[in-house]
Amino acid sequence: MTGTFTDPTPTPLALLLLGHQADSQSERGVECPGDLPPASDPDLVARARKAKAQLGDRVFILGHHYQRDEVIQFADVTGDSFKLAQKAAAQPQAEFIVFCGVHFMAESADILTADSQKVILPDLAAGCSMADMAEISQVEQCWADLTAAGVAETTIPITYMNSTAAIKAFTGRNGGSVCTSSNAKVSLEWAFAQGEKVLFLPDQHLGRNTAVRELGLSLDDCIVYNPNRPNGGLTVEQIQQAKVILWKGHCSVHGRFTPECVDEVRAKVPGITVIVHPECSYEVVEKADQVGSTEKIIAAIDAAPAGSAWAIGTELNLVKRLALAHPDKEIVYLDKTVCFCSTMNRIDLPHLVWSLEQLTAGQTVNQISVDPETSEWARVALDRMLALPGVSPAVD
Ligand code: 13P
Ligand code: SF4
Repeated sequence: MTGTFTDPTPTPLALLLLGHQADSQSERGVECPGDLPPASDPDLVARARKAKAQLGDRVFILGHHYQRDEVIQFADVTGDSFKLAQKAAAQPQAEFIVFCGVHFMAESADILTADSQKVILPDLAAGCSMADMAEISQVEQCWADLTAAGVAETTIPITYMNSTAAIKAFTGRNGGSVCTSSNAKVSLEWAFAQGEKVLFLPDQHLGRNTAVRELGLSLDDCIVYNPNRPNGGLTVEQIQQAKVILWKGHCSVHGRFTPECVDEVRAKVPGITVIVHPECSYEVVEKADQVGSTEKIIAAIDAAPAGSAWAIGTELNLVKRLALAHPDKEIVYLDKTVCFCSTMNRIDLPHLVWSLEQLTAGQTVNQISVDPETSEWARVALDRMLALPGVSPAVD
């Protein structure tokens, strides 16, 4: 079964109907106002090429690894969230940064680029359900609970990149930093050098996996703050004793991978190496052989010897591309059923063509613009991440 999947012909997923009458401040996004070309238009590829060529150096297209093939072929650079944030900050010549990814990534790009540059998200409904699990009012309430427990002054907030600009700004204002899956360990180490406790937002799994597996804390050192319960569902003593306060958020895509998936694939393909994204649960990560960001997963497969077998626990577009790029290796998907990120998939070729053609016609559409005050404090938190030791600004 070289270069194939456990499910080689996935049925296209019906995309979630996100955005209709949604809160425009939410990661869940809003309706895309575009008059889109039909997906059946046979000239879409030619139209995208033409519009991109017309725009020339005025446009720079960033593509996250979870994007569809039809979109990723037009990316000037592909990467994980960290690399794309760095790349966005390093394109001063580009008037337009077209971000083929999700809303929080485009917000970060807007914060990191000059005021004169415009960041475009081809479909405004490309949000992130994990980022939606932490609203700023809930985080402010959590901070008030930590203050009442007498620990806020010694707690450093760390927010995963997958959060709204408002939460990044909260983090910056309160002495904390952003992190991504490729630098969560160094961010937590930095935080513990600044204070006694960490409030980790919004992905409990990345927080727990990093604290326990990489920093050597115990599971009992970590507590989960549930924003839907008074005082997070915790006693004051629990809050005072914990070292890491994890926000009760998760990624529903990576939540599909279970320890049983690991057992099953090992039974099916003896000797297979299992590699997963750190947004998977602690139980899954403990069973896997390797764990890492999308960029690290790609590097591991690139470096693997021919004939080796890999089960990958992350989003399906990336796994499919890796299998196609490595026909000499056996690459299987860790879950039995398809697992696209429906919001990443919102960015398709019709949306890309529409947004590029609008730019050629002098219309700036779907601009992501963070207000100046939020941007200022969010930038403080992003810059702290970019300045962390061992977090190199040089990317290929
Ligand atoms: P990476 O930082 O590994 O690209 O992950 C981003 C993401 O959204 C994973 O779900
Ligand atoms: Fe958000 Fe999960 Fe999609 Fe990543 S894979 S963008 S965390 S919903």
